[in-house]
Amino acid sequence: MKFAFSEISLPKRGSLAVAVYADNVLSPTAKDVDKKTKGALSRAMTTSRFKGKPGDFLEIIAPSGLEVSRVILFGLGEPEKLTPLDMESLGGSLVKRLNASGARSVTVILDELSGEEFKANEAAASVAAGAMLGSYRFRKYKTNVEEASEPTLTRMTVSCKGSATARKAFADLEALVEGVFLTRDLVSEPANTLYPESFAARCMELTELGVDVEVLDEAKMQRLGMGALLGVGQGSKRDSRLVIMQWNGATGRKAGRKPLAFVGKGVCFDTGGISLKPAGGMEEMKWDMGGAGTVTGLMKALAGRKAKINVVGVIGLVENMPDGNAQRPGDIVTSMSGQTIEVLNTDAEGRLVLADALWYTQDRFKPEFMIDLATLTGAIIVTLGHENAGLFSNNDELSDRLFEAGKLVGEGVWRLPMSKDYAKQIKSPIADLQNIGTGGRGAGSIVAAEFLQKFVNDVPWAHLDIAGMAWSKADKPTTPKGGTGYGVRLLDRLIRDHYEGK
Ligand code: BES
Ligand code: MN
Ligand code: ZN
Repeated sequence: MKFAFSEISLPKRGSLAVAVYADNVLSPTAKDVDKKTKGALSRAMTTSRFKGKPGDFLEIIAPSGLEVSRVILFGLGEPEKLTPLDMESLGGSLVKRLNASGARSVTVILDELSGEEFKANEAAASVAAGAMLGSYRFRKYKTNVEEASEPTLTRMTVSCKGSATARKAFADLEALVEGVFLTRDLVSEPANTLYPESFAARCMELTELGVDVEVLDEAKMQRLGMGALLGVGQGSKRDSRLVIMQWNGATGRKAGRKPLAFVGKGVCFDTGGISLKPAGGMEEMKWDMGGAGTVTGLMKALAGRKAKINVVGVIGLVENMPDGNAQRPGDIVTSMSGQTIEVLNTDAEGRLVLADALWYTQDRFKPEFMIDLATLTGAIIVTLGHENAGLFSNNDELSDRLFEAGKLVGEGVWRLPMSKDYAKQIKSPIADLQNIGTGGRGAGSIVAAEFLQKFVNDVPWAHLDIAGMAWSKADKPTTPKGGTGYGVRLLDRLIRDHYEGK
């Protein structure tokens, strides 16, 4: 889809979308259109349930008095209450409706209104970003798409006062959305084509944007002592990889600053290993690399918008397979940190991968903070469903900032407790640690977080358990079903609001 911005003027062709406020108060442009169509808008509103609330839409086909093929009214409710998120939702919903109607182009007009929380031109950029997010499709494996189901909309023009500002704001958002799209692409890709080596090759493509990418193979990881990560991948025909991506965008006296670090679980397929998962739903485990996908998409977004900050992304890429060479329950591995781990369940593999990725990251980069993302536990879905990621942290400030950022971008996080008493559960009788707790199904996500904390070495750290968030079975205005790209916007917001240029 192509996006353009213009000053307010009525289009000569295509579809036209105009705003209506609460209780069907027409926006200035809607008023103008109503007059030109001899009251078609007013008549349509009185014969429908349309009330001008956010999420209300009303379509008027081929109105006489205008050259456009259709007019869509969209409700904005009380404009002073609108947030960027509402505008994104509006953009996404418009795309869906227009595709259902077979429209090819649309002009969305956002009139200036006193009392607005944020300006029409900022709103315009949000509408376009939401439309772009909502237009995403993973279609590369559809060879015979029926025409009727193909999206038709290819062009959106958003009209507002000060459109040059909107265009500039959108350029930034567009880079962010490109990052989200990369995450969605990676998450939706099946495991026969996306495995550690091919994933690393996708990361390599980011060098074009100025990201510095290093790939460690198994021999290098062996030398570094990454026995925890390597143990997970040892049953797979596909070799494991650790990818390190650096974006050094800080300038001037901030150039030498410690980087922010993001670490991702990249289990390209999780069969459970010898502790094999049941067959039902196992195909979902192709997206067990969601954390790594988010970190990679974030790096693309930051590089794409040339963020003035130093950031490092580290992803541990493995495939967890049962095999004659696979790790056995009861095996004891030595992690890079030197701590030994008794692997009581080979299906608790994400924490083993992260153990070495986290230790490596803090050891090499001494980052300002470290945030890991992982589809770590089924238990977090029991706790929080698909509305919030689980947040675990050793740092209140970082947690609060993540919470606020989550509210602003609609990617929620909810903090859960950690304490010594939970950590007791992962003491092994014969090694330093064991990879599952003694508490059975109780507090599974917390126990997993306690395990990770053994590998962060006092760096300010937060863990996001995104098992409930990486994939969506429901279509939402800005998140079509499939890989969601969760976390890219959350972390971009965190960086923008608290670290960039500061
Ligand atoms: N990748 C899974 C967690 C998961 C489950 C993600 C469902 C998304 C949807 C993880 O590796 C796993 O298998 N965790 C186990 C841990 C248990 C063995 C302690 C789990 O959650 O059952
Ligand atoms: Mn598992
Ligand atoms: Zn897993």
